[in-house]
Amino acid sequence: MKYLIDSMDLSVEEIDDLIDLAQDIIKDKSRYQDVCRHKILATLFFEPSTRTRLSFESAMLSLGGKVLGFSNANSSSATKGESVTDTIWTVSCYSDIIAMRHPKEGAPLVALKRSKVPLINAGDGGHNHPTQTLTDLLTIKREKGRLDNLTIGFCGDLKFGRTVHSLLKALSRYPHMKFIFISPRELRIPEYLKQDLLDAKNLDYREVEKVEDVIEELDIIYMTRVQKERFFNEQDYIRLKDTYILDKKKIEKSKKDLIILHPLPRVNEIATELDDDPRAKYFDQVQNGRYVRMALIMTMLGLENEVDRHED
Ligand code: CP
Repeated sequence: MKYLIDSMDLSVEEIDDLIDLAQDIIKDKSRYQDVCRHKILATLFFEPSTRTRLSFESAMLSLGGKVLGFSNANSSSATKGESVTDTIWTVSCYSDIIAMRHPKEGAPLVALKRSKVPLINAGDGGHNHPTQTLTDLLTIKREKGRLDNLTIGFCGDLKFGRTVHSLLKALSRYPHMKFIFISPRELRIPEYLKQDLLDAKNLDYREVEKVEDVIEELDIIYMTRVQKERFFNEQDYIRLKDTYILDKKKIEKSKKDLIILHPLPRVNEIATELDDDPRAKYFDQVQNGRYVRMALIMTMLGLENEVDRHED
């Protein structure tokens, strides 16, 4: 596997293999501690991050590898006008695998042309975030035992939320999925996803504006932050930012085994009173992100069979 730009770059079989490997790592991660010895991961973040960058770095360190990179483009030669392609070309001379985040949609695809090593998109603008998708899929698999036959409500900023776009594409390939999009009119799921994915594949979906109207139906509610950094107009952001605040009252009628997911960071979308609720799984997602990125790094470096798997 030479690149991961879009969640659709992975076949269902490849996703299943990554989840299987991550689950084996979870059973005993000490067995994996030397798999990437002498390998170097570069993390190039042209846009802020806490979870994605640090979980990639933690994953590589847990595999015995080393990390280099930058967390702020202002400390790189991008400030002197260097192109993203030249930056990646350069860094691929110093590393064995690269994870990059960039505010411009498509930047990782452009950079891929000159990368001499496997390249991972760690988020590009409002477009894609495939490794968050792997994190979400591993969490759903661990909590629900399956990735099919589920009703998922995506709630919040469905227009700019790249994690929603990536996860929706990945889940669209699993059978008997039902999608409910909960958003204000201005932040609805983009038309291209409706036409080219949902309608084209004749998937079961609908759009609503209130959580309370659909909460009883859901197996999963996937909350998202209103993406301040992608708004052109601050007034619109201020008006829309607190449209959805999930709290105890709003999920009173949920299924007992509902799971609440959020890619984080959270601003106000989930009241902290829910943090200890057994349905809250957003910090389990954070933890799973480390394990699935270990599985991804190993696989992209061709080291996925270096450790014998646990017998069940
Ligand atoms: N989920 C996610 O991408 O978080 P960060 O922006 O902190 O990396």
